[in-house]
Amino acid sequence: MKVIVVKNQLEGGKIGLDLLKESINNGAKTLGLATGSTPVEFYNQIVNSDLDFTNMVSVNLDEYVGLDGSDEQSYRYFMTKHLFGEKPFKENFLPNGKATDLEAEAKHYDQIIEENPIDWQILGIGQNGHIGFNEPGTPAEITTHVVDLQESTIKANARFFESEADVPRKAISMGLASIMKSKNIVLMAYGKEKAEAIKGMVEGEVTTELPASILQNHANVTVIADEAAVSLLSK
Ligand code: GLP
Repeated sequence: MKVIVVKNQLEGGKIGLDLLKESINNGAKTLGLATGSTPVEFYNQIVNSDLDFTNMVSVNLDEYVGLDGSDEQSYRYFMTKHLFGEKPFKENFLPNGKATDLEAEAKHYDQIIEENPIDWQILGIGQNGHIGFNEPGTPAEITTHVVDLQESTIKANARFFESEADVPRKAISMGLASIMKSKNIVLMAYGKEKAEAIKGMVEGEVTTELPASILQNHANVTVIADEAAVSLLSK
């Protein structure tokens, strides 16, 4: 795992863009994308770049159950606002949070991932070490699945909703096994709230209790983080 320490999200976004460009030059066609506040500046950098995505496909990590793509809190809406609306792709995939049969939707999403192997995956990290919505305790072999969000995740994500009660209790998420199949992974983390998770991910044992620690077993992971997020690392 390579760790790059940056001054702020702007610098992190610029470095992320350079890494992405390098992969695209090497033939990357399918991007794995994430939501949350962390990648916003990175998406800004993409929007302001000369990159052309009209021949590229994106596959997002997750979506809240029960939210339609037109709902402002949905991840589909977030992605359209920050990226897809400005940089058109050939196709953008996200799980359908409004699917009536969620198990069937999970299988369908696995099929999409199988048909569109991810070349380059951007990740954020939850305060409890989750990636996508793979919460602590999630088995490493898991593919797309329906998740009961943990209390700490609901609290952390409440800032995007009017009240904590409005945060959906379930999500549908790409699994750890699918994330691990991505050729390149870039994980971004900013702020002291992420410091514990980053320490566990980089220096702790590989454990399902901290899902991001599984990335230690991936050959091609770059972490872009600010001083606060790396403040608990021993070196
Ligand atoms: C959500 C998303 C994750 C994201 C995490 C951190 O739970 N499912 O993909 O990494 O939030 O969000 P933020 O970047 O806002 O700290």
